[in-house]
Amino acid sequence: MTDPDQPHLRPAGPSDLEGILAVQQQSWEASAWPAQIENCLVYRADRQIAGFLLYRRIVDESEILNLAVAPAFRRRGIAKALISYLAEILPGDVLLEVRASNAPALSLYRSAGFLADGRRKAYYHRPVEDAILLRRTATGVEIDRQPC
Ligand SMILES: CC(C)(COP(=O)(O)OP(=O)(O)OC[C@H]1O[C@@H](n2cnc3c(N)ncnc32)[C@H](O)[C@@H]1OP(=O)(O)O)[C@@H](O)C(=O)NCCC(=O)NCCS
Repeated sequence: MTDPDQPHLRPAGPSDLEGILAVQQQSWEASAWPAQIENCLVYRADRQIAGFLLYRRIVDESEILNLAVAPAFRRRGIAKALISYLAEILPGDVLLEVRASNAPALSLYRSAGFLADGRRKAYYHRPVEDAILLRRTATGVEIDRQPC
């Protein structure tokens, strides 16, 4: 049996909500989607929630609605592991939108194989900013798409 104290990925459960909220509160760049345990994957380490990924399934595609890693756990591959876990349990394209100024997130998604798939002008508020649409195809076949 897996030792629950070892770092691991898994779907969120009721006892994870508090930890998810704590990570979200420490991540002001994260999206404003309300925290929830349904359709949420968590990475646990040091007996706490180190990061989470919230998604929704649309037919055969997955949309990342929110993704955040607590500052103390960043740059350890946790966000990338959460994205890989999503693709593993729900095969198909993965898509999302991100603030145009969110350089760390854009760098993460670029390193995870996402490509730019459009732009929504003035999509975000406070501050007003464009959204970059990103997609990673399950097949890896790309036509006319540029690295994000
Ligand atoms: C963006 C975020 C989720 C990245 O989480 P993370 O666990 O630190 O990311 P990873 O360790 O998996 O990073 C994988 C790769 O992404 C890139 N990357 C991640 N953070 C980066 C940063 N701050 N600057 C530049 N590149 C970065 C790097 O290429 C990195 O690989 P490397 O560490 O070997 O160089 C995290 O910084 C965060 O929670 N930010 C606030 C919330 C947010 O912006 N969410 C995105 C909403 S769409």
